[in-house]
Amino acid sequence: MQLERVLHSQGFGSRKACRIMVRQGEVTVNGDACDDPFAEFDTENLNFSVNGEPWRYREKAYLMLHKPANYECSHRTQHHPTIYSLLPYPLVARDVQCIGRLDEDTTGLILLSDDGQFIHRMSSPKWKVPKVYEVTAKHAVDEKQISDLVKGVQLVDEPAPIAALACKQISDHVIHLTLAEGKYHQVKRMVAAISNRVEGLKRIRIGELSLPDDLAVGQWRWLDEAALVLLNQQPKNERVSA
Ligand code: URA
Repeated sequence: MQLERVLHSQGFGSRKACRIMVRQGEVTVNGDACDDPFAEFDTENLNFSVNGEPWRYREKAYLMLHKPANYECSHRTQHHPTIYSLLPYPLVARDVQCIGRLDEDTTGLILLSDDGQFIHRMSSPKWKVPKVYEVTAKHAVDEKQISDLVKGVQLVDEPAPIAALACKQISDHVIHLTLAEGKYHQVKRMVAAISNRVEGLKRIRIGELSLPDDLAVGQWRWLDEAALVLLNQQPKNERVSA
């Protein structure tokens, strides 16, 4: 692929802007300076740098982000900065989208991609990717509340009770709640339905992929092959009895 097209495909601007960057000597490819925008490169294992910043060619972008509190998941935010401001501009320019939104006060694992099929599958209600939330409740959580969450609770505007796939007590006020759906404010509404209240909410796992301990709040990273394999596995039926 021509270098100009490589850069354009990776979000570095219009083809004309990429051509100019190359001609101005801002780009190296596999360690060597290249000022010919029409030079051809094999995109397999292609490493390049733009103004000294290293990149690898990726046909599609798959990443995870440790969302901080007080960030919104939409592009046009109302009260807080957008999570997209935590990503480098080429990723935003190539239009990565978050897969399922978290509330502005929720922290934790968010996946982003520009692969429409992957986004569709991961967010499809049919695929039922389990998501695990660490919930800090206002009141101590008792056994009856846990069993109600797993048996199913009736939410306003829902035709039938909704059950958690699993609910594990971590401490008096903390539970790990596994859900198969991603309905609006679902955790907060389910916890309210058992007469408790969410005081802190963090998503710690999506499918088989856990939020890595070493991914600091506000940081993002590429999903590696192993992570993609985990995510592409057919979700297991995690439902457990209380
Ligand atoms: N459920 C909620 O209530 N909020 C979130 O951010 C995610 C799930």
